[in-house]
Amino acid sequence: MLKAVILIGGPQKGTRFRPLTLDIPKPLFPIAGLPVIQHHIEACAIVEGLKEILLIGSYPASQFQQFVYNMQLRYNVTIKYLQEFTALGTAGGLFHFRDQIRYGTPDAFFLMNGDVCSDFPLKELYQFHKERPNGALVTIMAAEATKQQSLNFGCMVTDNDTHEVTHYVEKPSSYISTLINCGVYTFSLDIFPVIGEIFHLRQQDIYKSENGNDVKEAGFIQLEQEILTPLAGTGKMFAMHITNWWSQLKTGSSAIYANRHYLELYQTKHPERLSSCKEPTIIPDVHIDPTAVVDSTSVIGPNVSIGASVVIGPGVRIKESIVLDGAVIEERSLIMHSIIGRNSRVGKWARVEGTPCDPDPNKAFAKMENPPLFNNDGKLNPSITILGCSVSVPSETILLNSIVLPNKELSRSIKNEIIL
Ligand code: GTP
Repeated sequence: MLKAVILIGGPQKGTRFRPLTLDIPKPLFPIAGLPVIQHHIEACAIVEGLKEILLIGSYPASQFQQFVYNMQLRYNVTIKYLQEFTALGTAGGLFHFRDQIRYGTPDAFFLMNGDVCSDFPLKELYQFHKERPNGALVTIMAAEATKQQSLNFGCMVTDNDTHEVTHYVEKPSSYISTLINCGVYTFSLDIFPVIGEIFHLRQQDIYKSENGNDVKEAGFIQLEQEILTPLAGTGKMFAMHITNWWSQLKTGSSAIYANRHYLELYQTKHPERLSSCKEPTIIPDVHIDPTAVVDSTSVIGPNVSIGASVVIGPGVRIKESIVLDGAVIEERSLIMHSIIGRNSRVGKWARVEGTPCDPDPNKAFAKMENPPLFNNDGKLNPSITILGCSVSVPSETILLNSIVLPNKELSRSIKNEIIL
């Protein structure tokens, strides 16, 4: 029997995803028509023997109740949300809920960061884990990055023959290796005593310190720095190198990038989720929710997802964008490299356009860049345009490379601005 744990963070995480996370937790933001972590759940549900998925986070349980209920109905697997009393880091929650994870004595469990996107080759990862001749405590899914980009990730040096991780540094300050940690793992249950040791050392620190407030919460443990780094070179940690698409979901731009790739995966795995009709004109890949009303004279695609109850008027053109539930795009408007928030309205003959910052296709292994919001001169870096929820864009205006917070009624064109 196998289990999976998905780390979903909490309200204090996902800040770079604002304003899109102001009305929905980031793990539930729809990419290619499905909440981000539903892609994880789908990947788990097809693994033979996987019986339980535990979502660990510090969001109020009420925000995930409906989602968990829907997922239970849809997939033949037990799904539970376990709420941390405070953010416990990437390993603290595992330790806190260790009894739930160990219950039923699974052979192993997968751990998945809730903010990564991939086709998640879990069967292969488990097979690889099982095949290590002397047993493995952890197997890390690893991908190649460019030298410069690798500094933003957990970097590993591995033995070419045994695939053992001999050195691990999280976000190193100088170059170590282009092999990076994808935030997807298989763990053996024997990992718990290892995390337990760190937990007890932390507790001793608290007892020793004169003022307990000076030290971190005892339960706060960072998997990467406190567990993986010391495990490197012990013969217990391995890396499985993948060459498939993998990316992180950190900013709005990375959502557009992930949307494109999940839509592409649908071509082989779920063609029924892709729209293919003559009217409106569809340029693949496009996902349109069945409850959306799209005028037959509009042209949609490539790489567009349209949410539930969206209304798209005559002559509208949309490409490389995500339009969230309940949005209305009035006639002859153009939406490009943008995310249109829930229940937002774009008037007639308007133009909403952003600038993509995709990985350089000429650089092998380049990953999605997440440039800072502002450059050194304090100016907004060009990025996709994002409308928060319930924003109203008047007719005949242009919005370029801008971010608009929720509930704004714009009255003019804007360029490179954040509208608070
Ligand atoms: P950043 O570049 O700073 O975002 O670092 P990162 O990409 O390494 O991400 P981070 O380690 O912050 O988070 C990895 C995953 O773990 C994400 O899916 C987070 O939502 C999740 N996560 C982070 N901290 C916590 C935590 O305290 N509790 C839980 N349950 N999940 C967490």
